[in-house]
Amino acid sequence: MDKLIIKGGKKLAGDVTVSGSKNAALPIFVSTLLAPGQHEISNVPFLRDINTTIKVLEQLGARVDGNGNVVKIDTSGVNNFEATYELVKTMRASVLVLGPLLARFGKARVSLPGGCAIGARPINLHLKGLAALGAEINLTHGYVEAKAKRLKGARINFDVSTVGGTEHLMMAAATAKGETILENAAREPEIADLAAMLTKMGADIEGAGTDTIRIRGVEALQPASHAVMPDRIEAGTFMVAAAITGGDIRIHNMCLDHLDAVVFKLQDAGVEITHKDKVVRVKGPRKIAGVNIKTRPYPGFPTDMQAQFMALMTVADGASVISENIFENRFMHVSELLRFGADIVVEGNSATVKGVKKLSGAPVMATDLRASASLILAGLAADNTSEVSRIYHLDRGYEAIEKKLAGLGADIVRVKE
Ligand code: EPU
Repeated sequence: MDKLIIKGGKKLAGDVTVSGSKNAALPIFVSTLLAPGQHEISNVPFLRDINTTIKVLEQLGARVDGNGNVVKIDTSGVNNFEATYELVKTMRASVLVLGPLLARFGKARVSLPGGCAIGARPINLHLKGLAALGAEINLTHGYVEAKAKRLKGARINFDVSTVGGTEHLMMAAATAKGETILENAAREPEIADLAAMLTKMGADIEGAGTDTIRIRGVEALQPASHAVMPDRIEAGTFMVAAAITGGDIRIHNMCLDHLDAVVFKLQDAGVEITHKDKVVRVKGPRKIAGVNIKTRPYPGFPTDMQAQFMALMTVADGASVISENIFENRFMHVSELLRFGADIVVEGNSATVKGVKKLSGAPVMATDLRASASLILAGLAADNTSEVSRIYHLDRGYEAIEKKLAGLGADIVRVKE
C-alpha cells in the first residue's frame, strides 16, 4: 500500500491543470450501454473508479480501448446483463448500469451496493423511479432483478435531491415510450454533462441542470463522442490548497461558475480569486477568516468540498460552524484532523472548528476520498512532516494529485508502505 509523505510549510505557486470530472465520466461511460456501436469519450481522468467502470462494462461484454485520456467503448457485443457484487461493492456508481440495460435489453440483474463509509446511501429512489417507468423489480439474494418490455414515460417527483437517481432515470427514460418528467431533480453540472452526451446520442432532453427535466423518449440512440467536463471538486481542492498555504496559483481548465458557492465562502475567508477565461488565479490571505458553511445540493455548498474546507478552517483566525446536510456520517476526517492539533467539536451534523495558530505534522489515515484530500491539505499547512496512509481512497478520485501539488512547489512524495 502506498502512503504520502508531506513536508509542510511551502507556499504553493505556479500553474496546475484540472482533469476531467470523475462524477461526470462515470455515468457518461455507463450511458454508452444505451446505444450499440463505438463511442469515444475524451478528457477522461486516470482514476481507479474509471478502471472499475471499465471492468463493469467489459463484464457486460463491451470492448474498451484507452489511449491517453481518450477512451473508446464499443457496446455492440454486450451480451451479459448482470453487474456482480464484487464490482458494485468496490464502486457504488456501477448500479447505474441497471436502467440502461433494462432500457436496451428489457432485463438486468445488478447487485445492491450496500452502505459506504460516509452514509447508508440507499438506492430506493432509483428503484421507485424505474418502477414508475414500468419496470418489474424484485430484490433477491442481495441483487435487484428488473424486467420490462419497453419502459414507459412517467411523471416522477424525487423526495430528496439525488444526483445518481436523476442520472439513472434520465438514462432509462431516454428510449422509453412517451414523455418523462423528473421533478425536484438534482441540478449538479454533471447531470447537464450527461444530458449533453445523451443528446449527442439522439436523446430529446430539456431542462437538465434545473429541477425539472423533460425527456421525450426516442426509438433508439446512436453512438457518440463527448469530452468530459472539468472536475469541479478537484479544482476546488486546489483552490483550498492555495488558500491554506498562503500561496498564489493559476488553475487551468476549470469552470469557475460550477463553484460559485465555494468561491463565495473562500472570498469571505479572505482568499483572492480572479479569472480570465478558463484560468483562475487564487491567492491565499496572510490570515484566513473563519466562515460558516452548510452543505446543500447544487447550487449550494457541495458536500464533496466539506472536508477540504474544514481543513482550511482549522487554521482560520476565529471559529466556524460546518453543517453536513447530505450524508449522515461525513465527519470521519475530524478525528484525523485532531491528530494535527486541530480544535474541532462535533455535535450531530455540525462541527465547530476553532482555528489554531499552526497545525503540527502527524501520521494520519485516510478514510474516504474527500477526507484523504483534507488530510493532504492539512499536511501542506502543518509544520514538520506528515504521513497520510491508506491513500487508495485518493486514487479513486484524484488524478496524480501528488504530482500536481509537487508541480506547484509542495514537498510531497508517494512511497510504498
Ligand atoms: N438518497 C436516498 N435514496 C436514493 C438516493 C439517494 O435516500 O435512492 C440520499 C442519499 O443517501 C444522500 C442523498 O440522497 O443522503 C444524496 O445522495 P445522491 O444520490 O445525490 O448521491 P450519489 O449520487 O450517490 C453523488 C456523487 C457523490 C456526491 C453526491 C452528492 C457520484 C458518482 N457520486 O453521489 O460523490 O457526494 O452525489 O453530491 O456522482 C465523491 O465524489 O466523493 C462523492 C461521494
